Amino acid sequence: MLCFIGFIGIPYILGGFVHVNDIIVGMDIGTSKVCTVIGQLGKDNQIDILGKGMEYCSGVKKGVIVDIEATADSIRASVHKAEQMANMKVGSAYVNIIGAHVSITSNRNCVAISAENREITQKDVERVLYGVKNVNISEDREIIDIITKQYIIDGYDEIIDPVGMMGVKLEVDAQIVAGKITSVQNIVKSVERTGIKVDGIVVEALATGQAALASDEKDMGVILIDVGAGVTDISVYKKQNLVFYNSLPVGGEHITNDISIGLKIPYTDAEKIKKEYRLALSSLIKNDQEITVNDLDGNNKKSVRISEAVEIIEARVYEIISLCKNLIDGSAAKGGIGAGVVLTGGGISYSDGVKEIAEEVFELPVRIASYKSFGIGQPEFATAAGIIKYISNRHKGSNFGSDITVQKNNRLPKESGFLGRVSEFIKKIF
Ligand SMILES: Nc1ncnc2c1ncn2[C@@H]1O[C@H](COP(=O)(O)OP(=O)(O)OP(=O)(O)O)[C@@H](O)[C@H]1O
Ligand SMILES: [Mg+2]
Repeated sequence: MLCFIGFIGIPYILGGFVHVNDIIVGMDIGTSKVCTVIGQLGKDNQIDILGKGMEYCSGVKKGVIVDIEATADSIRASVHKAEQMANMKVGSAYVNIIGAHVSITSNRNCVAISAENREITQKDVERVLYGVKNVNISEDREIIDIITKQYIIDGYDEIIDPVGMMGVKLEVDAQIVAGKITSVQNIVKSVERTGIKVDGIVVEALATGQAALASDEKDMGVILIDVGAGVTDISVYKKQNLVFYNSLPVGGEHITNDISIGLKIPYTDAEKIKKEYRLALSSLIKNDQEITVNDLDGNNKKSVRISEAVEIIEARVYEIISLCKNLIDGSAAKGGIGAGVVLTGGGISYSDGVKEIAEEVFELPVRIASYKSFGIGQPEFATAAGIIKYISNRHKGSNFGSDITVQKNNRLPKESGFLGRVSEFIKKIF
């Protein structure tokens, strides 16, 4: 069974490298690319990005690994870029899994506190968590994560950390995340083929939510729409909890495809136009002009107007956003969205006008997620960086560092709270 397993220890020197343990590696295997981000946990859970690498990937279709060798090649190249930037060697990483391969089931469990003094211990928490994973999941799935929503002690709810508190009855409300076994196996196989171990699997939407959303937004109610190349993830948070989650098999590739078919031009030319003009709303065109592109057969040139491409993009973006709205409207998560909509993902973030389209569809305030405070810039890195934040938030007080070696004399972690600690294995959740 795959669960979050890690190793912490004092830094030690091996050959020309020093091992450190407050660094987490996040890897996003997406439809269009593999991104690797190396992040170091600083004070107050701040994350310093030490290295990042992105490589085009042809081994994934609509978020599904269809070619392990090609995916492994992209992983190797993206890790290499991140390693070079950080001057470190990556031995393990946390990796994403896309929403379509995941089911999230809510469950509650309860245990009696047996200690005479009624003080709740870590062991009691482990007992209640052990029982909460008893949910019916189909045979083709395995549990990959447990998200605790709240603990309840003797009827008092919204408790985040019950250890040390007094009570006779401890309950937990949790979401049990189960992934398709074959998808998990293909992810692990692709990563391990490069000699890198998998520390754990993180649901893409949960990781991106960590990077894209402010805590206040999650409190007030917010819709996060992540339009990737082949998949659009829709999540709704209320009072900090994920209350709705779904995904659609559409993304930026479909926008490019539409341009290619609509203008009868090669896919690569369509992708070029989309990336160069970055417009999704015809009314924003200031200077419509004719551009020369290749004909479908690649032998002849022809002229198309920018407005023709933008109209096609506008129609598809409108459709994607409307599909997202319909999904939410048909669910219990409808209403109570005080913080509006946040858009992210390479498939939508770059184009001017998407904000206006989403505002019109949702009739809510909309913003495009920014990752400047993260130091990652491009939205493509959001999931990989979000994985780092997700892992560091999930395991407060514990070190879930990835297996990393740092070249001797390289910049070592600035102020590592974990350095100098005695080695111990991370306790498994299960
Ligand atoms: N400058 C740009 N302008 C417009 N679109 C862009 C630009 N750069 C990238 N894109 C689009 O972003 C998409 C890739 O986004 P992203 O990296 O979020 O997807 P992914 O994670 O690979 O896919 P998925 O999450 O669906 O598995 C592609 O469709 C690409 O065409
Ligand atoms: Mg993605």
